[in-house]
Amino acid sequence: MPGTLNHVAVIMDGNRRWARERGLPMQHGHRAGMERLLDLLPMLHETDISMVTVYAFSKANWQRAKFEVDHIFSLAIEAFRRFTPICLAKDIRVEVIGRRDRLPRMVRCCIREAIQKTKKGQRVLRVALDYSARESLLAAAHRCTGESEAEFSRLIEKVQHSSGNNENVDLLIRTGKEQRLSDFLLWECAFAELYFPDVYWPDFSLQEFRNAIRWFDSRGRRYGE
Ligand code: FPP
Repeated sequence: MPGTLNHVAVIMDGNRRWARERGLPMQHGHRAGMERLLDLLPMLHETDISMVTVYAFSKANWQRAKFEVDHIFSLAIEAFRRFTPICLAKDIRVEVIGRRDRLPRMVRCCIREAIQKTKKGQRVLRVALDYSARESLLAAAHRCTGESEAEFSRLIEKVQHSSGNNENVDLLIRTGKEQRLSDFLLWECAFAELYFPDVYWPDFSLQEFRNAIRWFDSRGRRYGE
């Protein structure tokens, strides 16, 4: 029997290779990646999925060239503005996890606005920006006084600015033809099913998403039993 699919996490990898293979500058890959994310949002309505967390910018991504980082943040500004009406129409709440203090002021502003405007949504789109699972774990460990997993989970949610409660990931999808976690939701993925479609993120169509859900439904989850 498959478990319930509540929380899907997505590592949107392969934007630059997608662009390179088409002889395009990397900016086209990231833009195509953003459009793909916007296309997928309405899909949540077709399913019982209550939360999707996407990895948009990792702590390690600061090592990229400044012009690329600036480009990703300019897309983030556009994305948060465009998410808002879609999320309002589809009853989705926007959340952002990761550090806020290093983000450009305009990005922080758009995040605040998207969160505020969509706060009544029942389902959740969580965007991980300047995110590092290790950093979250370390921050939670510093504050932890007890021994319960539930308390530690709550602390992780708190240090990540997430309003959720113990958001175990059921299905982790990583595109981009790589099979690693790259410091993403390490605690939350403890029992996740891992799915690695053989496509770059800009090619991850609605059909690919449906295939991932079908694959998850075919899995027998036993949690060690
Ligand atoms: C990984 O592909 C992608 C990123 C680091 C950026 C993700 C950004 C978007 C999907 C668009 C912006 C959306 C928001 C919400 C900011 P890569 O660049 O590592 O590609 P590669 O593996 O081919 O080098």
